[in-house]
Amino acid sequence: MQIEIDQNRIAQEIDALAAFSDVEPPAVTRIVFSEQDVRAREWLKERCIAAGLDLHVDAVGNTFVRWEGSRPELPAVATGSHIDAIPHSGKFDGVVGVLGGLEAIRALKKSGFQPVRSIELIQFTSEEPTRFGIGCLGSRLLSGALKTSVDETLRDSSGNTLAVVRERAGFSGDLATVRLPEGFYSAFVELHIEQGPILEREKIAIGIVTSIAAPASFLVTIEGEGGHAGGTLMPGRRDALCAASELILAIERFARGSGSADTVGTVGTCEVHPGAINSVPSRVKLGVDLRDTDGDRRDVVLGQIKKAVEEISRRRNVSIAIEMLNADPPAASSTQVLDAISAACDVMKITSRRVVSRAYHDSSFMSLIAPMAMIFIPCRGGVSHRPDEFADIRGISAGVEVLARSLAELSSNLA
Ligand code: GLV
Ligand code: MN
Ligand code: MN
Repeated sequence: MQIEIDQNRIAQEIDALAAFSDVEPPAVTRIVFSEQDVRAREWLKERCIAAGLDLHVDAVGNTFVRWEGSRPELPAVATGSHIDAIPHSGKFDGVVGVLGGLEAIRALKKSGFQPVRSIELIQFTSEEPTRFGIGCLGSRLLSGALKTSVDETLRDSSGNTLAVVRERAGFSGDLATVRLPEGFYSAFVELHIEQGPILEREKIAIGIVTSIAAPASFLVTIEGEGGHAGGTLMPGRRDALCAASELILAIERFARGSGSADTVGTVGTCEVHPGAINSVPSRVKLGVDLRDTDGDRRDVVLGQIKKAVEEISRRRNVSIAIEMLNADPPAASSTQVLDAISAACDVMKITSRRVVSRAYHDSSFMSLIAPMAMIFIPCRGGVSHRPDEFADIRGISAGVEVLARSLAELSSNLA
């Protein structure tokens, strides 16, 4: 089968989508349900309709774009990713999987291919945890990994519930309707930039993802005692930020000391109250991200952190509370989908290797309801979640063709 990827079109679309942002280029900030996110969704919708595809949106804003197969009654094959972007990030994370999915469908249509199973492109809501503190919101709800009560319990930094925020963005309805049963899709495959250095370093075109690391995240609230920075003498101080500093360094030490380079721990947010230079910090809130390819090893580190919390709290006479946001298991890819990706690479005569994803993806949760695997393409220096994130258009194009061929194979597979 001859497949032509329109490189110019996808490059232009990536740039056009990057313009929906709250910051100046090359940085991109597109927080879920912000005005820019809503405008970007509208723009994407128009592109999909122009490609002759049917579209529907669920109560949390997950968007499903369908190319009907000759056997529409069969479970469809799906692909997709996210278009929300963390503050000051780049234009490729997630976007390559959404626009690449659209381009793959357009290229298959142009080639004359007729799908047997329908092919769906999904744009997932809030893969990034920026607004509500938990990543993969749309795919968690879709796969049943998250209770629908989050509609009232999840709040953004302004105190608005998910229910209120999604309604304001134009997405209403009962969250219970978002869930799809196991077997709803016959396969799910996501195209994404690697967000790591292996492919570029080894000059390999395609990473075939065999598993996705186990992510956990939690908030730590430290309550000490505030006071005047001049008048409060050092003996007896209960400085919440000093306690937080010890904990931050302990997290780094435990992650480094796990015995494996696959353990990573990051304190990515730190709110200090009252946040005045001449006031002893009375309260600090930390946001912690802890991951490992091995879920048990991650949990050992989690246990060490909890012990350190108790010790620091006692010694510094501060109270420390931990609120777990998520602690997910690793996700394993399916042989059937891995084989379809490998076969596509073989047909195209391009290099590939099996890799593990250290970042999490909507695929982690799609694996709960469908056989899943991912296609990675190289990104410069392995850099991601930064404005200088970059993927070469030839690499993107190769990834899109691998995706198109994988979708074609999976759509024809009636087993
Ligand atoms: C996804 O953006 C992640 O943090 O892995
Ligand atoms: Mn990301
Ligand atoms: Mn992503």
